[in-house]
Amino acid sequence: MYDVSLFDSFREFTPGHVAVSDREVHIYAVPLTGDADLHSEWLSKDEIARMDRFRILDHRRRYAIGHGVLRVVLSCYLGKDPASLAFDYGSHGKPTLRGEPLHFNLSHSAQLAILAVATAPVGVDCEKQRHLERLVDIAKRQFSSAEHDALLSLPESERLQAFYRCWTRKEAYVKALGLGLAALDVFDVDLGQTPRFLSFRDGEKLDDWSLLDVSPAADYVGACAVRCAGARAQTFQFRAF
Ligand SMILES: CC(C)(COP(=O)(O)OP(=O)(O)OC[C@H]1O[C@@H](n2cnc3c(N)ncnc32)[C@H](O)[C@@H]1OP(=O)(O)O)[C@@H](O)C(=O)NCCC(=O)NCCS
Repeated sequence: MYDVSLFDSFREFTPGHVAVSDREVHIYAVPLTGDADLHSEWLSKDEIARMDRFRILDHRRRYAIGHGVLRVVLSCYLGKDPASLAFDYGSHGKPTLRGEPLHFNLSHSAQLAILAVATAPVGVDCEKQRHLERLVDIAKRQFSSAEHDALLSLPESERLQAFYRCWTRKEAYVKALGLGLAALDVFDVDLGQTPRFLSFRDGEKLDDWSLLDVSPAADYVGACAVRCAGARAQTFQFRAF
């Protein structure tokens, strides 16, 4: 089984009581390997029905581990049984904890899931980087014109990395707000090494947001957006048993 080699900055997490303070985001990298049965025991009937709809066994296994670990991690903050947690879903499908002030968001790509936990609205996106033939065409469709122009101004050798930075940063923001793809054009992000929002055209204020690089491994790009000024990330890894 392919094992993801996570960066050392993602410290091992042992389930137990944990709290996240304001201006902090906790990020969990979860390799989607291990025994699915150990994790599916926490899932709700609806989650099990969704898992069973995956025809490919590996997709079922990844769903069980990702959502099982999500419940275990959230239960550490809430001091509740993982199986007792209930979720509501926004108009574009964003899950939130029912009756709890804690915010979270989940992303998965290839053999890895990333989970963000915060006290403010948060979005996370992780993508396994792969060669893209029509990267500029995709950018023209999905990025703002400023982002598209910034990408084109780079030498070709730097475009793939800049593309993934832009993609994950945009997706993280849209996910923080629980929106869909229609919201991609109403803000600009920087494509450089240091993540930052450049402008909002949707009424949000730059001072209210933090954008963080939470890339967990050499070939995965990760970004987290949280509606909180000056937020810092603490990074953990949760290895399913
Ligand atoms: C659904 C969407 C929010 C994210 O999709 P994605 O990148 O394929 O998926 P991710 O793995 O990052 O996130 C999926 C998880 O986010 C959560 N989620 C679902 N809808 C969400 C929403 N509207 N907002 C925030 N989170 C959402 C769920 O927990 C979901 O996990 P699950 O499907 O296992 O329950 C949406 O933005 C989308 O369809 N994106 C397509 C990709 C794209 O074209 N991006 C352009 C970037 S420039």
